[in-house]
Amino acid sequence: MRQPQPRGPLGEDLLAVLRERPGSPDARRRAEDLADAARAAVARSEGISTDEDVQLALFVLHALAYQGVEGIDDRWETDPDALRVREILAEAFEAQLRAEVPADTPPRTPQAVADALFAMAADDDGPSLARFLSGRATAEQAREFLQLKSLYQLMEADPHTWAIPRLAGRSKAGLIEIQIDEYGGGSAHRMHSALFAAGMREAGLDDTWGGAVDRVPAAWLAGVNAITMFGLHRRLRGAVVGHLAMYEITSSVPSRFLARGFRRLELPAAAAFYDEHVEADAAHEQIAARDMAGGLVVEDPAVAEDVFFGARCVLHLDALAAGQALSRWEAGESALRASAAETARRGPAELVS
Ligand SMILES: [Fe+2]
Ligand SMILES: [Fe+2]
Repeated sequence: MRQPQPRGPLGEDLLAVLRERPGSPDARRRAEDLADAARAAVARSEGISTDEDVQLALFVLHALAYQGVEGIDDRWETDPDALRVREILAEAFEAQLRAEVPADTPPRTPQAVADALFAMAADDDGPSLARFLSGRATAEQAREFLQLKSLYQLMEADPHTWAIPRLAGRSKAGLIEIQIDEYGGGSAHRMHSALFAAGMREAGLDDTWGGAVDRVPAAWLAGVNAITMFGLHRRLRGAVVGHLAMYEITSSVPSRFLARGFRRLELPAAAAFYDEHVEADAAHEQIAARDMAGGLVVEDPAVAEDVFFGARCVLHLDALAAGQALSRWEAGESALRASAAETARRGPAELVS
């Protein structure tokens, strides 16, 4: 990923430190101060899930565990000071999510877990970007949608893959069965991330992972950061499983609308990406809910509540991001943050936050 533009004092400090050689005396001294900068950013935040400075900093630190960031030494991934900053931000984010989503009393059999997850999705009345895309979005709004989605879709499945070595038995087998399809059954051009990249190229967009990061608001970064946070912590294995289950449950029907929308706008490669998900996720949602999530609740009851927490987080964060994009579009505005060129033209005061 290219180095993003910082969005506040924490991002400024973080990127300045990460550009140094890890372990050098200067970097070590400045990295120690980063923990204070992270605590200060959390303290002044009016809501971590939509905090531009915090979510971008967390996204950068998480990126070090994926494909890395240009000009930043890979050793920062496991540098103790960088990890400390990541954990300060992640803990604050998790605490906010736990405060914002309702707690569930999970049932104890796989079928009952599946039924409860499907009921949770059916009860959800969050805003639907898929319906908007299907019938009303302009070509420009569809291109914005692809960019907003790209931070996840161009590495689709990777954040949930962290969970594989943390599971066993039926839940692990279920997760792997799903991931095999997400990764194209071993064929590079059929990987869902590759199908999405083709859709971006067709729309004239940069298909490198993280290429759109500067244009993507915090609420969308939060959606990706949440999965990575769940995936990177064994303690949160229930949440990453619940998250994937809800992703699958809420994918098939919206994908049908999205495919229709992209076809209407004559973007067949993007439509093909969503066509693929109509059928695949109708199968995945069953495996995910019953075998993976239901299996985990039986095999590892200590994390049963977190399965439902992870599932709730999907609906909560999706509603936040979708609601923000829809209200921008309804107002005739862009759902993206201003580009560097626009900011330079209009001055930083009008930067979309
Ligand atoms: Fe997929
Ligand atoms: Fe899927």
